[in-house]
Amino acid sequence: MKLTIDTESRTLLTEDGATVRTLDLYGPEAFAALSRHWLRVAWSQKHSYTFSWLGRPMVQLPEDVLRLQETIYQLQPDVIVETGVAHGGSLMFYASLCQLIGKGRVIGVDIEIRPRNRAAIEAHPLKPFITLLEGSSTAPRVLAQVKAMIRPGERVMVLLDSNHSYEHVSEELRLYAELVTPGSYLVVQDGIMQDLWDVPGGRPDWIHDNPARAARDFVAEREEFTLEAPPWAFNESALRAGLTHWPSGWVKRRL
Ligand SMILES: C[S@@+](CC[C@H](N)C(=O)[O-])C[C@H]1O[C@@H](n2cnc3c(N)ncnc32)[C@H](O)[C@@H]1O
Repeated sequence: MKLTIDTESRTLLTEDGATVRTLDLYGPEAFAALSRHWLRVAWSQKHSYTFSWLGRPMVQLPEDVLRLQETIYQLQPDVIVETGVAHGGSLMFYASLCQLIGKGRVIGVDIEIRPRNRAAIEAHPLKPFITLLEGSSTAPRVLAQVKAMIRPGERVMVLLDSNHSYEHVSEELRLYAELVTPGSYLVVQDGIMQDLWDVPGGRPDWIHDNPARAARDFVAEREEFTLEAPPWAFNESALRAGLTHWPSGWVKRRL
């Protein structure tokens, strides 16, 4: 794809093979095309590695974090399970929402919780909302521990942010799907890998080996689930889609 920005004529020329289009530079289609490329440049520059939440690094795109907040507030889950803890910033984010809402707790699973990260999470004022489990998210022992912490009737949301290979995410979807309650979500993170295979730092096999494909294949096989991003809680614009690292990422349990 070739993009030519002309700020004088206020147009964006897009050339995709033989398809050439001239777009209004300030219209929604130009916004979508420029956003897509901005995400690729930003990922290559490690933009999402520049944020923290209440003192802990959080590796996320800020727009995804705000959207997640809208959904968590609307859903008010009893339990939020996340695979992939790293420094613990995303756990702190969920825990802080639980504290503000006055409801909910967080379970974080990671194959390796580094001593410095564990110490910082355990010393944090939000620790009472968080349980850490160390082990692979797909290990039967770990899954059994997660299940044992959820009481009957509780509303559960699951976020998958651990190993992003197609195989691992597919296995996580299969294992964690039964925990998710109807109306709630399995959030499959970092499907943007499908668009990053040719970006500096990306890999050619990401065209196929990515979480977004795992999510699409999962919903194609399971009628209880559908790909459906939550509606925006507020929108006084003409936009219908924003910027995200999670394309095909909102797997909703409808039944
Ligand atoms: C992208 S980071 C998580 C970022 C974190 N959720 C945040 O927003 O800051 C991915 C984490 O997944 C963990 N991980 C990798 N393979 C895993 C597995 N099989 N099971 C559980 N965690 C895994 C890594 O150790 C790493 O800490």
